[in-house]
Amino acid sequence: MSFQGRMRNTTRTQSGPLRNFSPVNVKKLGRNDPCWCGSGKKYKQCHNQFDQRLESLELQGHIVPGRNLIKTPAQIQAIRESAKINIAVLDYVAEHIQAGVTTEEIDRWVYEQTVKYHGIPAPLHYEGFPKSVCTSINQVVCHGIPSPDVVLKEGDIVNVDASTILNGYFSDSSRMFCIGQVSEEKRRLVEVTKQSIDVGLEQVKPWGFLGDMGHAIHDFARANGYSVVRDIGGHGVGLEFHEDPWVSYVSHRGEEMVMAPGMMFTIEPMINMGKEDIYIDDSDGWTVYTEDGLPSAQWEVQVLVTESGYEIISY
Ligand code: MF3
Ligand code: CO
Repeated sequence: MSFQGRMRNTTRTQSGPLRNFSPVNVKKLGRNDPCWCGSGKKYKQCHNQFDQRLESLELQGHIVPGRNLIKTPAQIQAIRESAKINIAVLDYVAEHIQAGVTTEEIDRWVYEQTVKYHGIPAPLHYEGFPKSVCTSINQVVCHGIPSPDVVLKEGDIVNVDASTILNGYFSDSSRMFCIGQVSEEKRRLVEVTKQSIDVGLEQVKPWGFLGDMGHAIHDFARANGYSVVRDIGGHGVGLEFHEDPWVSYVSHRGEEMVMAPGMMFTIEPMINMGKEDIYIDDSDGWTVYTEDGLPSAQWEVQVLVTESGYEIISY
């Protein structure tokens, strides 16, 4: 199985790295020691209170981010630079995509635009993925592989999912495109899925829970008559393509990982017009389809938790 980082795995949250770096398990610093975040400040003037807050949440039984998931200001800046390329690539796609274009051509645009800005397309050769971008049309949920045989046609809805590496830092976001005139029901699916990103973002604030965000998206999708894919989720991102936490959009309020300033993750719900069930194409090991053959839509935003709320890093 490829793309492990995106598959639901109920034991992931108990895995080694999370425990090793959790506030309860890391070595305690003296108040006058330099802070672990690399700011150069004394611990007591930097992350001391932050650590105490997380430690007490951990002792109450909540899942909390380890230090390895808290980005430093320098890392955040480097990730923003990566995201500038990712955004430019998607802007380029937005300007050129139309009926008659093959998904292979989209792949070439993404490759050429990314390297023009000295980035590397993160999907290329990632766990054996053969192309530079994912293109997922209609009933394809995600991880569609560009091909010279797939021609976009009037009425298609397509997700283009771009991810960039710059100087070792990762950005990841995706958008939907409607090709020419699409049916009213597909257009509404695309629109509601886009709105679900805003519904999720509203819940991103320090000391909230990822489950608040996932629950809000799930509720919103259901209220609109849709279902949300359960087995594939979002992910932490920045220093790696797919980091902890795994991010669900069918989760519950007050559950999942605590959101702490400096955490970065994706909100990328896959919303289905019909049932939530999916299957993976045996022949390529990547392409994910809806079981019932009805359309699916996805938008993806990369978001940073800040002291006051959130910052959009890539969209
Ligand atoms: N960009 C996808 C995501 O949102 C990951 C695709 S994995 C790939 O996480 F190998 F297919 F690129
Ligand atoms: Co992603």
